[in-house]
Amino acid sequence: MSAVLKDPIPAPGRPQPRPGVLAIEAYVPGKSHAPGVEKVFKLSSNETPLGPSEKAVAAFAEAGRKLEDYPDGSATVLRQAIATAYGLDPARIICGAGSDEILNLVAHTYVGPGDEVIFSEHGFLVYKIATLASGGTPVVAKERDLTADVDAILALVTPRTRLVFLANPNNPTGTYLPFDEVRRLHAGLPANVLLVLDAAYAEYVRRNDYETGLELALTADNVLMSRTFSKIHGLAALRIGWAVGPAHVIDAMNRVRGPFNMNTPALLAGAAAIADAAHVEKAVAHNERWLPWLTEQIEGLGLKVTPSVANFLLIHFPDTPGRTAKEADAFLTRRGLVLRQVSSYGLPGALRMTVGTEEANHLVVAALADFMSGQDSAGKETAGNDK
Ligand SMILES: Cc1ncc(COP(=O)(O)O)c(C=O)c1O
Repeated sequence: MSAVLKDPIPAPGRPQPRPGVLAIEAYVPGKSHAPGVEKVFKLSSNETPLGPSEKAVAAFAEAGRKLEDYPDGSATVLRQAIATAYGLDPARIICGAGSDEILNLVAHTYVGPGDEVIFSEHGFLVYKIATLASGGTPVVAKERDLTADVDAILALVTPRTRLVFLANPNNPTGTYLPFDEVRRLHAGLPANVLLVLDAAYAEYVRRNDYETGLELALTADNVLMSRTFSKIHGLAALRIGWAVGPAHVIDAMNRVRGPFNMNTPALLAGAAAIADAAHVEKAVAHNERWLPWLTEQIEGLGLKVTPSVANFLLIHFPDTPGRTAKEADAFLTRRGLVLRQVSSYGLPGALRMTVGTEEANHLVVAALADFMSGQDSAGKETAGNDK
């Protein structure tokens, strides 16, 4: 059940939310259930099919033995572990309850009423929510071929622009900007505009012209790069994100951040996870094997797939009754295969699928083959078969 009230407009005489708050369409997470189906494969939130590192699980269990003390409000253990993994100064790192908190924090730190925040047409939904929640005005840049367009973003910059959010690679499209384009974007921004490079899926990218943005975040005065432990590290349940940027940006965000925003189990499990490079490599290898396989198999069924560099793919369905994305979603769900509808991203004709286990990947391809050929879940031809 949705937690959002149908008619949230407050009557006069009652407490009024700040301007912008009621314009927020609350984030609806990918569904995780398939009613009546025994074995469910959740492929709707880009989690890893490999689970977390055993070392992270052990650290989490150990942390569970001592819950009475407040966590370390400076997240020292985790910042140090991240710093060691990437060769960084821990003072330049801030941690958050998921990168969602980082994205919200940066908006709350830099954006107020009258300020503008630019992000791209099919960009991650949290950018709009964070902008509105901080009283700012979202400004949406058109994309080209479902990919962020640097010229379109730069054309929207005004004296009121405070932030630019760029997911690279982007969710839900799976597309990315080569680094010379990111540099061109940065070079075109006024020095007082903060460029937030959200590299939630960076570990999965295997392209020579891709960079996470780390170097820019270390050298420029107006670039922040955010990362997450929810995807390749398999710790989505613990809510761990982080960002690296100029000292003055980290300092400002630390003033807004809640003093105990990270919990002890997350700090310890996260530190163990980032030190387990072998586990990350396993997850990368799994993705490298199955992302191209899924793309090829699904395209072989006559469906268009947006070329992805992340751990998910965007599958486009026709408008033909019986073959639409919505109907495909219902069909797959009946088989326990839970993908993500992306209408809220302006993509009503597509479904986003997370790369799953070998079993899940095979089941999705087989189910889509049946769907496209007009077989129902029981293998019978459906009335809507137009073959
Ligand atoms: C592009 C992007 N950024 C950030 C996040 C937030 O992840 P988390 O809050 O779990 O770190 C997600 C999650 O789906 C994402 O896709």
